[in-house]
Amino acid sequence: MNPIVAAPMAGGPSTPALVAAVADAGGFGYLAAGYLTADALAAQLAQLRQRSDRPFGVNLFLPDRSAPAPYRRARLLRRERAVEAYARRIAGEAHALHVELGDPYPSSEPDAGPGLDAKLRVLAAHPPDTISVTFALPDDACLAALRATGARLVATVTGVEEARAATAAGFDGLVVQGTDAGGHRGTHTVAAEPNDLDTLDLLRAIRPVTALPLVAAGGVADAAGVRRALDAGAERVQLGTAFLRTDEAGTSTTHRDALADPEFSGTTVTRAFTGRAARALTNRFAVEHGPAAPAAYPELHHLTRPVRAAAARAGDVTRLHLWAGVHFRRATTGPAADVVQGLLR
Ligand SMILES: Cc1cc2nc3c(=O)[nH]c(=O)nc-3n(C[C@H](O)[C@H](O)[C@H](O)COP(=O)(O)O)c2cc1C
Repeated sequence: MNPIVAAPMAGGPSTPALVAAVADAGGFGYLAAGYLTADALAAQLAQLRQRSDRPFGVNLFLPDRSAPAPYRRARLLRRERAVEAYARRIAGEAHALHVELGDPYPSSEPDAGPGLDAKLRVLAAHPPDTISVTFALPDDACLAALRATGARLVATVTGVEEARAATAAGFDGLVVQGTDAGGHRGTHTVAAEPNDLDTLDLLRAIRPVTALPLVAAGGVADAAGVRRALDAGAERVQLGTAFLRTDEAGTSTTHRDALADPEFSGTTVTRAFTGRAARALTNRFAVEHGPAAPAAYPELHHLTRPVRAAAARAGDVTRLHLWAGVHFRRATTGPAADVVQGLLR
């Protein structure tokens, strides 16, 4: 197997077709189970197994264990008030697209509690080669369920302390995510301000504190970048943005086109869309609302969801979360296999 990993990309871009294409090209790919229901995950697993018998991974979002518990009433109230204030602030964005804001506290949450438990049961019945987790480390019950699948367990880390904690928890490998990465930063708490270490510096900082195999993620766009990450101690290199425009990705047309649009000149890390820090193309919504957005994930994710869905349908790039890494301009169209080959050249 070559060292190229197609990152899990929740919200549409990761598809069974993309994972199969990368596996057939000698790389390794992940299905993205974040936001999916257990049934939807089971359907993707079945589709992937029809297409390919090569090893693959599944990525899970885990709930932030530092989120205020119901008995912490003061903290909980503060957070609820901050979500309400943000809802008032962005009401006009929903109005402009003729949709209602979403319910920040929906009755079913796919990435926590019973929703997450159901996905763990699917993975126990159909274990992939590897399960990676992001946004937190698992609690004891979740870790036991993950272990019981028999899959190799990989944790996303964004700093040295997180790497130590994941190593102590008994993970088999770490995805080391640097600041240049597109999409959400996998900090282990929502409120943590993500550091600005690039992937190579982060690898060098983490290498001495763990003996686990490391996967470099963030800001790699070509074969030279792959080589640099391997030289800095990574065993493999995980890329997201590089695959966003490929034929097999499920990226929306609006998102694909924005990545190639000369109007966009850079990226920014913002909580505006989901309440969690994420790197996206710099657009009006991020600039205008990002500074006011509270660290409240998944509440803001649910709140803004109808706005983002309508924006994607309407081709409105001013209100869409256009996740992208700093090297988004290098993302090419065509078969994913060509991207894998290009990264090995
Ligand atoms: C559109 C998009 C969606 C992402 N979704 C996930 C996800 O569901 N789970 C995850 O662990 N990482 C996710 N990531 C982050 C990637 O795992 C990876 O860290 C990142 O793409 C690497 O940086 P690059 O985009 O510069 O290659 C996502 C990234 C992007 C661009």
